[in-house]
Amino acid sequence: MKKLLLIFLLALISGACEKDSDQPVKAARLPDAVRGKRVYMGTCIQCHNSDPSKDGPVAPAVKGASEALIEARILHRAYPPGYTPKRKTTTMPAFPYLKSAIADLAAFLS
Ligand code: HEC
Repeated sequence: MKKLLLIFLLALISGACEKDSDQPVKAARLPDAVRGKRVYMGTCIQCHNSDPSKDGPVAPAVKGASEALIEARILHRAYPPGYTPKRKTTTMPAFPYLKSAIADLAAFLS
C-alpha cells in the first residue's frame, strides 16, 4: 500500500513538473547553433566538409546557407526561387525528419 501511495505521489509530482517546464521548452526552440552543429556533424558531413566553409568529399561548401535554402534542400530537394545552385547535380537526398532542425542548421552555418 505504501508503494502504491509513493507511485501516486511521484506521478503527481512529475505531472506538476511538466506544466512548470512549459516555458523553458519553448525557449529551447529558439534557433541554436550548437544544436545545429550537432545535426550537421551527425548527418551532413557524410558528404559535406566538417568545416562548412570548404567543399566536402562529394558536396559543396555550405557556409552561409540561408534558412530558405536549407529548407528547400532538406525538405524538397529543391532550391529557393531565383537561387543559382553551386552544383547542377541532384545527389543530395531529402531529410524530412530534420524539419525542426532547419533554423538550428541555419544558425550554425551563418
Ligand atoms: C548523401 C550526401 C549528402 C548529404 C548527407 C547532405 N548533402 Fe547537402 N548536398 C549534397 C550534394 C551532392 C549537393 C550538391 C547538389 C546535389 O547534387 O544535390 C548538396 C547541396 C547542398 C546545399 C546547397 C549548396 C548550394 O549553395 O548550392 C545545401 C545548403 C546543403 N547541401 C545542405 C545540407 C545539409 C544541411 C545537410 C545535412 C542535413 C546535407 N546537405 C546533407 C550531398 C549531401
